[in-house]
Amino acid sequence: MAATSASLQELVDSLARKARADYYNPYTRFDWPPALPADAWWMSPEFLSVHGTSLVEDEVLLKSLARYETVNFFSLNIHGIRELIVEVALRIHTPRFAAFSDFLHHFLGEENEHMWFFAEFCNRYHGKIYPALPSFPAKASFGVNWKDVIVFGRIVIFEEIVDYYNKRIGADGRLPAVVRELHSAHHHDESRHVAFGKRFVKHLYDNAVAADDQGGARADVENYLKSYMSYSVASLYSARAYRDAGIARTTDIRRSALAHPARQQFHLATMARVNNFFVNNGIFETKWAGVDGS
Ligand SMILES: [Fe+2]
Ligand SMILES: [Fe+2]
Repeated sequence: MAATSASLQELVDSLARKARADYYNPYTRFDWPPALPADAWWMSPEFLSVHGTSLVEDEVLLKSLARYETVNFFSLNIHGIRELIVEVALRIHTPRFAAFSDFLHHFLGEENEHMWFFAEFCNRYHGKIYPALPSFPAKASFGVNWKDVIVFGRIVIFEEIVDYYNKRIGADGRLPAVVRELHSAHHHDESRHVAFGKRFVKHLYDNAVAADDQGGARADVENYLKSYMSYSVASLYSARAYRDAGIARTTDIRRSALAHPARQQFHLATMARVNNFFVNNGIFETKWAGVDGS
């Protein structure tokens, strides 16, 4: 593997120092009220999956959906990050990752704590976590260096989507305090992960190209990551959340919402930063164009 650049090493060392300085006890950090008001917005209405579509217009129903889409969003966090931390744990002390293991220990520790507080929310206020969706398939055909790109590329995509929500919802005064605080605490931690993740994906990509330029692999990696972007966006449209909220014709509503032009704009806005990152660094030849247009 190519040597780690001095600037990447400096970044990783400084993020590890910052993680130590910012460390907090997640088990005592939050105040968990016995119940949350059902008539409050649990999710900013602008972040509901039907926003801008006119498919659901009754405010009582929208507030109900805000409760269940919060449970869905936190459940997706729990399942998504669990799958990805397994991959990080498999690599953390291998020679390819040794130079980054200090920061990766913080990453794993923080992600474990995020899983805990999101699960605590779902269990306290909904009685359960939503079940995991069928996993996005791993691709066995990629060589070891390209698999590294895939794993950390997926982490960056996942964290960018979540952070788009966390940053904005965490600042919304209409929401119960504990909901806001979970979003904003997560945003604070993820700012380190996102800073690391992008630089690290670029590093892994350069290594994969240098070590193993299989020609077609680059196009396959681009297609794979774009499919993961579509899968991730689609997972925010939960038929279970619609049903629990009391919305009729859940399958039709889900299909119509996902394909609605207003939602396509939202998807592109959510993905704008990570889309630019992939294109500007030569990892994508073209931008991801949306759930149906990729
Ligand atoms: Fe996290
Ligand atoms: Fe993270």
